[in-house]
Amino acid sequence: MRGKFITFEGIDGAGKSTHIEWVAGRLRARPGIPAVVTTREPGGTPLGEDLRQLLLHRKMHLETEALLMFAARREHIAEVIAPALARGEWVISDRFTDATFAYQGGGRGLPRQRLEVLEDWVQDGLQPDLTLLFDVPLETASERLAGAREPDKFEAESRAFFQRTRDEYLRRAAAAPGRFRVIDATRSIEAIREELGQIIATL
Ligand code: TMP
Repeated sequence: MRGKFITFEGIDGAGKSTHIEWVAGRLRARPGIPAVVTTREPGGTPLGEDLRQLLLHRKMHLETEALLMFAARREHIAEVIAPALARGEWVISDRFTDATFAYQGGGRGLPRQRLEVLEDWVQDGLQPDLTLLFDVPLETASERLAGAREPDKFEAESRAFFQRTRDEYLRRAAAAPGRFRVIDATRSIEAIREELGQIIATL
């Protein structure tokens, strides 16, 4: 039986990454799942990690950025995600295509139709079974990012950029309520874990 594909999303500073290993641990403790793979985008393969360095640190045309995101994703699906799911393993990815719609579409303003063409081409029908959207107001996200490491190209973006990115995430969540769960990530780690535990128990 094909494994399940779970993605974590949210604007920078929403705190999603803190919860990935916890969810993976809970699933690993469950009988019947042969393995749980955790991975990330952009990245997840040696080539994808090289592309990540370019994407996070080099200035480029916004369409180049979208194309490279999907190029890294093509490699990631072919090398990691599809083979694992076919073996019955579960895959948890720290970001996937919703991030491209939110950042390159919402944030940078690329038309959604352009991205949908690439999505169809690269994913050939593959979609996450569950997407956890960690949602916080911009103030909370920027407080969490302040004082962290040197900001990358995206983290250095304007407040207006992140507002558009967050709005697009929420719009996509509202448009696909069967796949998305919106997590109020302003709460304590314990409260969030409690909710995550309930959500994954239904899978
Ligand atoms: P991370 O810091 O959560 O690992 O994500 C890296 C950055 O890349 C983050 O600022 C969001 C951005 N990103 C996009 O702009 N488009 C995408 O498709 C993906 C996967 C990430």
